[in-house]
Amino acid sequence: MPSFRRHLPYLIVLILLLLGFYHFALSKGLIESGERPGFTYRKLRDGSLAKKPHKDTTPTTIETTIPGGEVVYGFSLLDQLYLRKGTFYIVTSDKAAFPLKRHIIARPLDIGAGNDLDPTDKELQFITPAEANEVLGARALLVDGFSLIPYDTEQFMNHFYHWWGEILFGAWRVYSASMTISEADSVPPFPSRILLPHIFGNEWRDRPGVNAGLVRTAFPSINIEKSDYWDDLALLDKTFVFKRAMIICRAAAHTHKFSQSWHKMISSTMTVNVSDAFWEPIRRTTVEHVLGYLPQVNNRGVVVSPPSAVSEMPFVTYIVRQGGSRRLAEADHNGLVKALKELEWSGICQVHVVQMEKMSLEQQVEVIARSTVIIGVHGNGLTHQLWMPPSPQSTVIEIFASKSYVYDYEILARNLGHTHYAVWNDTLTTFPKGEFYKGIHYSQDFHGLSIPVHGPAVAQVIRERLTRRLPKA
Ligand SMILES: *[C@@H]1O[C@H](CO)[C@@H](O)[C@H](O)[C@H]1NC(C)=O
Ligand SMILES: *[C@@H]1O[C@H](CO)[C@@H](O)[C@H](O)[C@H]1NC(C)=O
Repeated sequence: MPSFRRHLPYLIVLILLLLGFYHFALSKGLIESGERPGFTYRKLRDGSLAKKPHKDTTPTTIETTIPGGEVVYGFSLLDQLYLRKGTFYIVTSDKAAFPLKRHIIARPLDIGAGNDLDPTDKELQFITPAEANEVLGARALLVDGFSLIPYDTEQFMNHFYHWWGEILFGAWRVYSASMTISEADSVPPFPSRILLPHIFGNEWRDRPGVNAGLVRTAFPSINIEKSDYWDDLALLDKTFVFKRAMIICRAAAHTHKFSQSWHKMISSTMTVNVSDAFWEPIRRTTVEHVLGYLPQVNNRGVVVSPPSAVSEMPFVTYIVRQGGSRRLAEADHNGLVKALKELEWSGICQVHVVQMEKMSLEQQVEVIARSTVIIGVHGNGLTHQLWMPPSPQSTVIEIFASKSYVYDYEILARNLGHTHYAVWNDTLTTFPKGEFYKGIHYSQDFHGLSIPVHGPAVAQVIRERLTRRLPKA
């Protein structure tokens, strides 16, 4: 102790000297100061800089708009969307330019449980710019970037198909359609955040971890905020404004008449006019980020680049579900594998029989990103077609219990540029562009454990598709 006390004066002098040198260096410009991302340095020589506030508020009289002007039920893309105490506000002097409230949002309750989902003033209100000052205050705090806001409970969220095949897929369809109308021809910026107001903790995650793994890889900068964030904002006596946001709401999407024929959340997004290749930016980015490379296929479905990944024949991938519920009769599963292997022996394709639940995320995406045909019983594995390269040969073959039909993977396939076949045992059916199977039917054995399939019939269709002469491009 005594020795420390003896040295204390020297220590103080040393600190004062260092401080003095720092200020001297700063004033002579020997040390840099100024704006740094995230915070502002006080620049001593130029006091004006310190007085300038950050521009992260906007007047609440700025009106909400629909970029691109497309009204899509359940997928409402809005610029300058206000939020105060847990209620969205659309500020507009032309309410007729917007869909009705029930086409935008619903009360955040489970669907089909007898709940009244009709939205109230708690969820969303329309106000005029003249009312804005009183209701919202003069200025709103700006939440920058593009925010996706799936406004639903966890009921249909923690599932690969619902999350990627409906929420993100539908959102991207509407967003890219709107951007080609109003903005540049390049890829529009990816979302900066996903805000889940009615999701607590891990409720959005699927058990195999595909949702989180793929969204973090595809969009490494994305923030996923949940009810705690929503509550933080709601508790404050402040107005926030989303620069660009999409309110995504399943019940609101189902208010569109297309939903009556297809029973799918993304039915309403089929109303927008979008490039056939609209999903490609997301597919390519995701595959490239997950694998570290992007397989390029030619018209025959053969991988031709990069050189380290070329294949000799198209990949045919059978996604096996024999470990789970809803599966093929064991003998028919074996018969399908045998028929596919015979195709391989006759030099038509390379066959992969895979169980996704036993593979890493990288392995799952890789086999699909190199495939030209995927086959499986109706189920989540077929959502992986999102990563299959579209080509004149690309095909999704979905096996149903006899006479059953639902549209989940058919709508995806059509949107992705893959040909879709429904299989009932030995009968395969496909529909050209613009034509659809009529009706939805769940037979008693829809979720059965011995769904029949006649392997040779499936193999025959694959043979025809992979050996037919293609029209010259
Ligand atoms: C969709 O886009 C195509 C090509 O740009 C155009 O010819 C067609 O008229 C559009 N259809 C609608 C309904 O906007
Ligand atoms: C499936 O098709 C095969 C070939 O036509 C037939 O032999 C078999 O009986 C069918 N199975 C069922 C359950 O209909």
